[in-house]
Amino acid sequence: MAESQILLNDFKRQWADTGESVLDAVRRVGESGWYVLGREVADFERTLAARVGRAHAIGCASGLDAIEIGLRASGVTPGSKVLTTPLSAFATTLAILRAGAVPVFVDVDEHGLLDLDLCRMVLASDPGIRAMVPVHLYGHPLDLKALAELRDQFALTVVEDCAQAIGAVRSGQQVGSVGQVTALSFYPTKNLGALGDGGAITTDDAGIAARCRSLRDYGQSQRYLHDEVGLNSRLDEVHAAILGHAFLPKLAAWTARRHEVAQAYLSAIRHPEVRLPSLPSSAASVWHLFPVCVPAQRRASFMEHARAAGVLTAIHYPRLITDQPALRGQTFEVRSPLPRATALAASEVSLPIHPFLTDDEISRVVAAVNTWGGA
Ligand SMILES: Cc1ncc(COP(=O)(O)O)c(C=O)c1O
Repeated sequence: MAESQILLNDFKRQWADTGESVLDAVRRVGESGWYVLGREVADFERTLAARVGRAHAIGCASGLDAIEIGLRASGVTPGSKVLTTPLSAFATTLAILRAGAVPVFVDVDEHGLLDLDLCRMVLASDPGIRAMVPVHLYGHPLDLKALAELRDQFALTVVEDCAQAIGAVRSGQQVGSVGQVTALSFYPTKNLGALGDGGAITTDDAGIAARCRSLRDYGQSQRYLHDEVGLNSRLDEVHAAILGHAFLPKLAAWTARRHEVAQAYLSAIRHPEVRLPSLPSSAASVWHLFPVCVPAQRRASFMEHARAAGVLTAIHYPRLITDQPALRGQTFEVRSPLPRATALAASEVSLPIHPFLTDDEISRVVAAVNTWGGA
């Protein structure tokens, strides 16, 4: 019998693992007769805030909205410059643009994360930049101590993009604990993914939290009193119930399995042309993705070899944000050459990593990589 394809995400297995509790959650919401901004959202927000160690969580419609709302609620105004990375989901920059702000890009480090040394140099040279959206890309935590130093030295507003990194830890500290605001995404592929779109903002600041609640709900501070131009970006009761009751209780086990898969790859993949992620020992990634690098001119061959062996792969990300057509005509700045981001965009390949991979499938992924033919 032909071997089954190994997927990047396996939602059918997730359903087999969680379907009954998802249906229970949906039933409870249906029976409650209350579908928008009710008890389920409030309960989920409380549980999530406790989970990430912040005073407030505010559910919203997506990670994109979480970043935009977080920027606006923390005082980033139209025309403000916001330091960020050229290597991320486009949503990171799109949120900055939607807030009316000006993205300012610098290069990434060898792990694909925003280069905080370059950030320091740029911040020191330009007092006009006082906000930042760092991204804990691939589930890898940035150096939080260095990030906190930048925040304090330059009085920065920091909105941490934790869309890929819920639960990641650096030197014992959780991501999302440095920024005044943290943005999460519950897009289905995320480590904590809904059965559709969703997001959340977390913060310790009660004033920011109140403004986020207003912004997600047409900018109204009380019913029919609209203080500012907001969004319709509410998390549904159904999604809050599913996330809170069916998925969040599983997150620790799912993350632990991602760690096991990553460790298996790190110890068994051996190929002279495949560079494995090599994080500092202080970084506990949550392995949203497992990015490897291969020579750029051989990436298509690598992905085709994996596909022929029944292993699906992907690229995160094939094009820098600075090169996206949507940026033409937008105001943005590029403050350093981008050789590392450019090299990653040309050479990165993501191997399957999700909690439902079997040991046999892990071995098949390892074998597919290790048997890739020479140049
Ligand atoms: C790093 C990063 N930031 C922001 C987002 C946006 O999240 P969403 O898809 O929920 O809008 C994503 C997900 O696509 C992401 O990976």
